[in-house]
Amino acid sequence: MEKKYLIIGNWKMYKTPSQAVDLAAEILKAGCPENAALVICPPFTHLWGVAAVLKNSAIALGAQNMYPAAEGAFTGEISPAMLKDLGASYVIIGHSERRSIFRESDELIHQKVKAAQEFQLTPILCVGETLAERESGRDREVVAEQINTALDGIDDAHLVIAYEPVWAIGTGRTATPEVAQEMHAFIRDLLKKRFREEGSQIHILYGGSVKPGNAAELFAQRDIAGGLIGGASLVAEDFAAIARAAEK
Ligand code: 13P
Repeated sequence: MEKKYLIIGNWKMYKTPSQAVDLAAEILKAGCPENAALVICPPFTHLWGVAAVLKNSAIALGAQNMYPAAEGAFTGEISPAMLKDLGASYVIIGHSERRSIFRESDELIHQKVKAAQEFQLTPILCVGETLAERESGRDREVVAEQINTALDGIDDAHLVIAYEPVWAIGTGRTATPEVAQEMHAFIRDLLKKRFREEGSQIHILYGGSVKPGNAAELFAQRDIAGGLIGGASLVAEDFAAIARAAEK
């Protein structure tokens, strides 16, 4: 079976709501190859406007975070029910920026994965080691711990994993296709042990300085089923070029 790639744009805290509407329209116009599916994850305040642009299109909508409760006295937070109502079908969970800047623990990330699934949102669980952890040979151990804690007791395989080595995020220093593939194969084994047959269907994406120039060689790796794209997803032509790299 031909692999269907998943290309997800994480816009982080960029663009104003009106700029986001324009960018979504440009991305829609740029098109997408048949063997790829696109998802856009704008900031919360942009979801409503971007949802209107993407309505009835093949591009799906995602959020970048959420709080693991349906509703409640959680000032400043956004619930999965709210995201669902806005038309989101994906949510990024445990991005390294949330882990490091906002001190999100594996336990909180676990609660978020569970809550996302309860509300029929597909969690995009982000994992990845720091440079110090890789240099001390602890990269696999760290990634295994992140995955095992986040997925503890979870038997629903509706999720996406994004392997984003922290040293490759926003640095222009991409993991080589070999280094990325090695970790993806390791993650694939963990998922197969946990979910059996369904574990081989889960999309494992690579993230960290993916650009039009390096996407094809990354996507050619056996266990890399697409990308979580930061900076390059803010330029419609670059995002489209990355999607086309899935075709090669
Ligand atoms: P960059 O593509 O800008 O390195 O960001 C990667 C990322 O963090 C996506 O979630």
